[in-house]
Amino acid sequence: MIRVTDLDSYMASFDGEPGYLDWAAFGPLAPAVRTEVQADTELLGSGRRTSIQLVDDHERQARELVARLIGTDAAQVVLQPSTTYGLMHALYGIAGGLMLSRAEFPSLTVAATRASESFGSLHPQWVDPVDGFMTPDVVRSALTEDTRAVAVSLVDFRTGYRADLAALREVIGDRLLIVDAIQGFGMVQADYLAADVVCGHGYKWLRAGRGTGFAWFGERALERIAPVLSGFGGVDGGLPVDTVPAPAPSARAFAVSRVDTLAAGRLATALREIVDVGVANIESVLSERAADVMFFADRYDVPVITPRDPERRAGIVTLEPAPQDAAPLSASLVNHGLTVTTRGGRIRVSPHVGTGADTLRLFGDALAAFASARVW
Ligand SMILES: Cc1ncc(COP(=O)(O)O)c(C=O)c1O
Repeated sequence: MIRVTDLDSYMASFDGEPGYLDWAAFGPLAPAVRTEVQADTELLGSGRRTSIQLVDDHERQARELVARLIGTDAAQVVLQPSTTYGLMHALYGIAGGLMLSRAEFPSLTVAATRASESFGSLHPQWVDPVDGFMTPDVVRSALTEDTRAVAVSLVDFRTGYRADLAALREVIGDRLLIVDAIQGFGMVQADYLAADVVCGHGYKWLRAGRGTGFAWFGERALERIAPVLSGFGGVDGGLPVDTVPAPAPSARAFAVSRVDTLAAGRLATALREIVDVGVANIESVLSERAADVMFFADRYDVPVITPRDPERRAGIVTLEPAPQDAAPLSASLVNHGLTVTTRGGRIRVSPHVGTGADTLRLFGDALAAFASARVW
């Protein structure tokens, strides 16, 4: 296997079958991740303490790599089973108003509702942006005295809109900014330090498989968010027997039990490649792939709801065909061997950096076949 250290080898490492345009749903695992997991399972099968320790060390490596991509300290990063776990730690620990869009992925909407119903200390402040975009203006006009925090997706799972974290920070002042970054982490440059909590998961764009979640809690978050769901894994020192110490003063407090070290190994392997290749390089190619998808959509008059501005999008391009066109367009995509997500009449197309000309050609052919049969 070629070690991935630069953009060319990264692009060449996409070895899945042509036709896959659903990275926003699931990311076929990277070759290095597959190799790593095999080596780690062998180490864990040996029964040697040193081998077990080698695999345990992946937790530190993964936290350091997440921290590096955020631009922070590894002590503020804690591994999680998934994005939703990290977001739940954050939301359950907040008191006061939490502003969020009703159209957010259910990780946020369900956690906010449950936290409010269970404890009554958090009050969801729902907003319904017309186009689903949580822009600084939408947030500004919905802020109230009671708003203590704002939760947004870095990249919206439906529309592909990329939030402007720095602009949101300017609008919300000293309030907490909680970010679900799963649809953009490692793929686009973001001003994470403008946020207070950033949660993600490596099973889509990072190609690391499930179980590879992580969360960053910055200074303000550590001061203001109570570690309500903290378990024995959230304390400093060894196993706390015959005593119950306070939660750790770091992000570690937002842990329940011990981490899955095999998952940490997958995450570390995937992130190491991304750090080596560089997020800016990845972003520039991903932006071109998304533009390729838009090009074909425009050519065959299929409306796109994702913003055109490269700074306001990432790898998701959402098509919104006329109601009578949705089913035939979907069918044409399937018939041409393409994998996309169709939901509520919209078609979400999500290429990755390694999406090749063969897949794009299939996409163009599928749109051409649909267009030639379309009744205006
Ligand atoms: C915006 C967003 N958040 C969260 C998730 C999934 O969360 P988890 O990592 O807990 O599976 C998805 C999955 O599609 C998503 O699109």
